[in-house]
Amino acid sequence: MDYLLPILAYLIGSVPFALVVGKIGYGVDIREHGSGNLGGTNTFRTLGVKAGLIVTIADILKGTLATSLPLWIQSDLHPLFVGLFAVVGHVYPIFAKFKGGKAVATSGGVLLCVEPLLFVLMLVCFFICLYISKYVSLSSMITGVLAFIYSLFTGDIPLMLVVGFLALFVIFRHRANVKRILDKTEPKIKWL
Ligand code: G3P
Repeated sequence: MDYLLPILAYLIGSVPFALVVGKIGYGVDIREHGSGNLGGTNTFRTLGVKAGLIVTIADILKGTLATSLPLWIQSDLHPLFVGLFAVVGHVYPIFAKFKGGKAVATSGGVLLCVEPLLFVLMLVCFFICLYISKYVSLSSMITGVLAFIYSLFTGDIPLMLVVGFLALFVIFRHRANVKRILDKTEPKIKWL
């Protein structure tokens, strides 16, 4: 049974909520709009606050759900290890031609399951960075790095390894955003 959990986590992570909400709720394929990213930010940008919130919360919760699977069935697998597969599913979804999001919200959901305090702290850091920079992408990357620094102080090796991996993954997925920030063509948010 244990070996099924990573597969199940990957399938949960693969549910492309940005695509589902966009197509079913608005008749819009958000891959053809904004940054083209299947994530909460591009949904906010393309479809507005309500759709953006729904997608962001759903993307967070799929990480939380997948990470909690080993706890439910009392598996020996580490929840963080299983949660990683949800993030991989979110980024490379089998249900959306393997082109998904940038790992931020679903990684947050993984942390929400295992370290709720870290999740809350990172949420605060994210909004402080966003208030200062106005860049969602930059705030996401800085928050990932701060989460890794926090994990180093916990002494929890699996947490350090997984958060380190997730931070690198988030930065890797934001390569195009980094280029746009340097070119000064990355859109800034206007509502904060
Ligand atoms: O979570 C993704 C965000 O950091 C950037 O999204 O659409 O601006 O590339 P986007």
